[in-house]
Amino acid sequence: MLQDQVAVITGASRGIGRSIARRLAALGAYVVLCARHREDLDRFASELCSAGFRAEAFPLDLTRATQIGALAQSIRDRHSRCDILVNCAGIGQMGPPLHQLSPEDWDRLMAVNLRAPYLMIRAFAPLMIERRYGHVINISSLAGHNPLKNGAAYSASKWGLNGLTYSVAEELRDHGIRVSVIAPGSVNTEFGGGQPANPDVRLQPDDIADVIALLVQQRPQSFVSEVLIRPSTKP
Ligand SMILES: NC(=O)c1ccc[n+]([C@@H]2O[C@H](COP(=O)([O-])OP(=O)(O)OC[C@H]3O[C@@H](n4cnc5c(N)ncnc54)[C@H](OP(=O)(O)O)[C@@H]3O)[C@@H](O)[C@H]2O)c1
Repeated sequence: MLQDQVAVITGASRGIGRSIARRLAALGAYVVLCARHREDLDRFASELCSAGFRAEAFPLDLTRATQIGALAQSIRDRHSRCDILVNCAGIGQMGPPLHQLSPEDWDRLMAVNLRAPYLMIRAFAPLMIERRYGHVINISSLAGHNPLKNGAAYSASKWGLNGLTYSVAEELRDHGIRVSVIAPGSVNTEFGGGQPANPDVRLQPDDIADVIALLVQQRPQSFVSEVLIRPSTKP
């Protein structure tokens, strides 16, 4: 279904990004896996290729604009296209309350959760515009719709990501590019380092991959701009 398409997924080494990458690969896309740790990505890329899918690892730190530029150049040189960009990488921090949060922690969260999606869109939108086709999907959070006590910086980064998404969607719409945001509730991953009391009442990473599969296979005349997804049982 996505046989001719190239998909770039950040945060692809584990958790939600990994499930998304596997799903896009299974749908036929050539997937470019991005995260910082090379060994995790190489292992995952080999696993996908052994299953008959097409994948490559591209380790990078999303806080470095030059590394993002190198990724985009490499994809332009080798594939001349990027059909799907999923900005999934993110970091979380619960506590302390905002008035005790260090400026360094604030900057770190904003760099990964908000500045990196901007840099990725800046790097890849030109390739999509050239082909008048593309789908950008940003992974936000319900914390971008609700207050999060002791998580104000994380929440602010996701409220910001939502605003960025709604606005850039209007900028790129006339170029045939759909920009969407998915806002999940609690998902069963290693995110933030914590283990949930009851993982069974959390969303699973594949629940988010299901939504991605729907978004990238919409018919040309439709555009699902935002999906909020919650566990059916309240944690
Ligand atoms: N889990 C939840 O409950 C939940 C709920 C709502 C929304 N979300 C959002 O969903 C997204 C994915 O969460 P997850 O649960 O899958 O998290 P996760 O399991 O902790 O995975 C995070 C991914 O991001 C990568 N990453 C982190 N910093 C990076 C950097 N500077 N440069 C490049 N890659 C970086 C990590 O790989 P490396 O460490 O190798 O770089 C990893 O692949 C995040 O945006 C998060 O805010 C999660």
